[in-house]
Amino acid sequence: MEFKSKIKTIEWVDTYSKMVDQTVIPYEYKFVNITGGQEMFDAIRNMIVRGAPAIGIAGAHGVVLFAQEGADKPRNEFIPWLLEKAEYMKTSRPTAVNLMWAVDRQIEVIKNSDSDVKGIIEELKENAIKLENQDIEINKKIGDYGAEVVPKGATILTHCNAGALATVGYGTALGVVRSAYAKDNTIQVFADETRPRQQGARITTFELAMDGIPVTLITDGMCSYFMKKGMIDMVVVGADRIAANGDTANKIGTYTVAIAAKYHNIPFYVAAPLSTIDISIKTGEEIPIEERSHDEVTHINGKRICAEGVRIINPGFDVTPHELISGIITEKGILRPDYNKTIRAVYE
Ligand code: MRU
Repeated sequence: MEFKSKIKTIEWVDTYSKMVDQTVIPYEYKFVNITGGQEMFDAIRNMIVRGAPAIGIAGAHGVVLFAQEGADKPRNEFIPWLLEKAEYMKTSRPTAVNLMWAVDRQIEVIKNSDSDVKGIIEELKENAIKLENQDIEINKKIGDYGAEVVPKGATILTHCNAGALATVGYGTALGVVRSAYAKDNTIQVFADETRPRQQGARITTFELAMDGIPVTLITDGMCSYFMKKGMIDMVVVGADRIAANGDTANKIGTYTVAIAAKYHNIPFYVAAPLSTIDISIKTGEEIPIEERSHDEVTHINGKRICAEGVRIINPGFDVTPHELISGIITEKGILRPDYNKTIRAVYE
């Protein structure tokens, strides 16, 4: 039985990109139409759209939006201008490599096209829609491979949101949950709140509730307590960038969960498409970590929660060392250690 998720996070419609506005969940579930290239850059940076695969598709849409804006330029000016805009789009957020990957797929279209300007714009639209459709198919494959390692009646802990709302649909870590739930509706999820932006509380619980999958919200510091009590059977998280040795950048706090899982002998899986693997970097040391606004730490829902003048540091991601990862669930199957070998083998 296939699990039917109701959520489609982002899609190309005629001349614009339609996406779920993730800044207002769970208070509202509304869509916004992004009609310009700079507007898309800002939507990615301000996290109207977020989650590695979703921002990849948003970046691909952003290139089409810029292309539409340059439609009146002569071809010999249009191409270098658009390539520059595409490079700019890649800088909207630094850590999730899916953004660079998807924009690079659009850059290939631009560079390989023999068409006139109108034709290039059409080819970019077609490619964006192809990438959207592929994302859902890939997530279903990830879900099905991952479901094979979910024990019967398992409680699965996840961190941040690697769900339908972090992708075009279905999700990576929550794709595993959806596929497992389709086979065994006695499984359940424990969702970490995920400070500072609370993607776990705001988004993961929202989307699982929408799909009718049982979920319990816990705060970030509670995970080892529940692991010690034997209440967590496995951990599945998403990823923003995976180095060639398996080191994995994901939402800040993931590393803490992985250490706790290792200590309690609980399997810790990363679920991600191959587009999240950056084989150009050897280890997680090389992954750029986004530093976000201090307001995310000092304020909750616009209300200050600490004294004025307190020093703040706010890295958006951390890197979980490969030794703590039991397996990387991809659309090509579950990669196991030694990741240097198993990751390389996928590309051979
Ligand atoms: O800052 P965000 O909300 O974009 O971070 C998202 C995450 O860290 C997700 O866990 C990751 O992108 C995987 S999404 C399938």
